[in-house]
Amino acid sequence: MVPTLFVAFALVSIAHAATPTVVDIEAIEAHFQQALIVPSLIPTFSPGAILNVSFSGKQITPGQALAQAGYTALPLTAPCKPKTLDVAAQPVVTVSAFNASLTGNFTIAMVDADVPGTVYGTDGVNRHWLENFMTISSGTVSNSSGVPVTVYAGPGPAAGSGPHRYVVLLYAQPTTFTAVTGLTGGVQKFDLNAYVKESGLGDIIAANYFTVEVGTDSTSLPVTSAVITSTLAAAPSGAANGASGGASGASGGASGASGGASGTGSGAAPASSQPSSASKLQFSAAALLVAAAMMLVL
Ligand SMILES: *[C@@H]1O[C@H](CO)[C@@H](O)[C@H](O)[C@H]1NC(C)=O
Ligand SMILES: *[C@@H]1O[C@H](CO)[C@@H](O)[C@H](O)[C@H]1NC(C)=O
Ligand SMILES: *[C@@H]1O[C@H](CO)[C@@H](O)[C@H](O)[C@H]1NC(C)=O
Ligand SMILES: *[C@@H]1O[C@H](CO)[C@@H](O)[C@H](O)[C@H]1NC(C)=O
Repeated sequence: MVPTLFVAFALVSIAHAATPTVVDIEAIEAHFQQALIVPSLIPTFSPGAILNVSFSGKQITPGQALAQAGYTALPLTAPCKPKTLDVAAQPVVTVSAFNASLTGNFTIAMVDADVPGTVYGTDGVNRHWLENFMTISSGTVSNSSGVPVTVYAGPGPAAGSGPHRYVVLLYAQPTTFTAVTGLTGGVQKFDLNAYVKESGLGDIIAANYFTVEVGTDSTSLPVTSAVITSTLAAAPSGAANGASGGASGASGGASGASGGASGTGSGAAPASSQPSSASKLQFSAAALLVAAAMMLVL
């Protein structure tokens, strides 16, 4: 219970911070490590800002389990139910910078880091949103001059394929950016990091992620560590009483998506998968903890 309370504090501090603190930045970095998004999806993550992703006017918390409209997500017992937010419509994305001024063009991407049956690095990930020439207007990511490669397409994980991590990333788009030819619209598999390199995108300015699961995953979930803000390097020294294990991040160095079915973005694919890699299990438990923390906050 104690770690869960610390997670609750971390979530509150992110939710209420107009300008993020060093701890806020370290917390989102730790979330990405714990969820093994680093290094399985992106090799490194040192954001200069916090990405606020809101569906239907409600801000998500990092890793929050969201329900696809019309489905029940994680099979948690009441009252720890995932928030039911309709993730079908494009979210409102805002960004609060730590100390960088955010001008120029940006590229936004949302990818499904858990396409069953694929291994990132050889197969790539599903892109659900990829749009260049985004701008930031009063902190809100605007598509008024946006050039979409793939317009936002909401999550639709295959039933029974476990929780999928949907990662929303905002990249700096320097003047040297060159559009990559040959990409077609719609949800498609692609190699995110190769795209970043080929198009000449810059650093990840900010990122966030949420999870969506459809149906019941038949695996049992081992306990994993949570992000404990008081143990982060930049936490005020008075707060770091070393009570528990801390946010030591990715232990296994997992390799991305686990084995299983070949479901893509349809949401109606057959449930023939057996996603059971260590990375998914650890991540799932983290999602459970975050969901539990949300219930304490709300
Ligand atoms: C933010 O400020 C800190 C402390 O001054 C500095 O070390 C860091 O490089 C800055 N980051 C950015 C993105 O400007
Ligand atoms: C995030 O966005 C929501 C809705 O768009 C807003 O209510 C909330 O204040 C924002 N939070 C931050 C930290 O910007
Ligand atoms: C941003 O993109 C626009 C085209 O939409 C271009 O005219 C402008 O020069 C770009 N700005 C920067 C700083 O790259
Ligand atoms: C811009 O976003 C709105 C939703 O906020 C969407 O309806 C529209 O299609 C988008 N346009 C582009 C060019 O991405």
